[in-house]
Amino acid sequence: MTSIDSFRADIDALSAELPAVPAAADLDAMSGEQLEESLAAAKAARGRSGGFKKQIGELDGSERSEAGKLLGGFNQSAQAVIDAFADAQQRVARRAQLATERLDLSEVISTRRRGSAHLVTQAWERLEDVFVGMGYSVSEGPEIESDWYNFEALNFPAGHTARDLFDTLYVNVGNPESVLLRTHTSPVQVRTMQTTEPPIYTVSPGRVFRRDTADATHMPVFHQIEGLVIDRGVTLGDLAGTIEAFVTAYFGGSFTSRLRPSYFPFTEPSAEFDVLMPNGTWLELGGCGMVHPNVLTNVGIDPEEWSGFAFGFGIDRLALMRHGVDDLREFYTNDLRFLEQF
Ligand code: PHE
Repeated sequence: MTSIDSFRADIDALSAELPAVPAAADLDAMSGEQLEESLAAAKAARGRSGGFKKQIGELDGSERSEAGKLLGGFNQSAQAVIDAFADAQQRVARRAQLATERLDLSEVISTRRRGSAHLVTQAWERLEDVFVGMGYSVSEGPEIESDWYNFEALNFPAGHTARDLFDTLYVNVGNPESVLLRTHTSPVQVRTMQTTEPPIYTVSPGRVFRRDTADATHMPVFHQIEGLVIDRGVTLGDLAGTIEAFVTAYFGGSFTSRLRPSYFPFTEPSAEFDVLMPNGTWLELGGCGMVHPNVLTNVGIDPEEWSGFAFGFGIDRLALMRHGVDDLREFYTNDLRFLEQF
């Protein structure tokens, strides 16, 4: 005959079989096997409590309710212990999965150094910044052009000898010599004048092409930036002042510029401009002049009302001067030992 005292003693003994649940940090530090063992022990203890129900039936009627509470209390603690170990087991499994799926990127990050923009790109962007700072917009256009945009609109009539100044590369489409790789970015300015109401203040940077053999100062593919201003009452003095402002903004205050008379079909008067280096030598940088009235007429701008100036120069050559590089070809051989210096 079971008594309530022996029932309580059995429940206590069974409770002692439940493994103790450690504090959270220790619980999470347990290995998968340790957790599995504890969980199995807790489930086994709870399993054995099944036999106790029958014993309650053998107790005195007055003792049954207390015995029921004792058993219920045990079952609750057993469930709490099981839950604690099962949860910990899930966390451990999740951690193990993350560890195997994790990509170790530390090596990639630590060994990859950041590159930098090419010297010509750096010069291009700096020049844009200087002119945007002076209130100019930036305009771009196609690299393959028609004869009209590259020459005709710019006051080079067919057969004009000035065309020989540009060693043109023609593209074999349409009529012979009607399509070409642009020899300068001036055709972008023609396009801009066609589509924009004056006043116009714009620069056109871009890649240009000429039938040249590569040497220390020439490349068949190079880069230009050309400026165009169309406004009322624009003078040659404005042009000279703009060039001087640009030269000091780009190179620094110790540089200065001068204009020398020259000839371009699309400007009248025309000039070449030179930059005085701190070492006292003058270096030719580009061409400029007042936009020829014929050019304005060709794009539908009234030369009686509007006047303007234009200038253009090579970006590659400018970068060469600024960084004291003595051979243009260095820019394009892609030798990292050279490129990494900038
Ligand atoms: N387009 C000329 C060239 O490529 C440069 C230039 C631009 C000259 C504007 C005068 C005015 O050589």
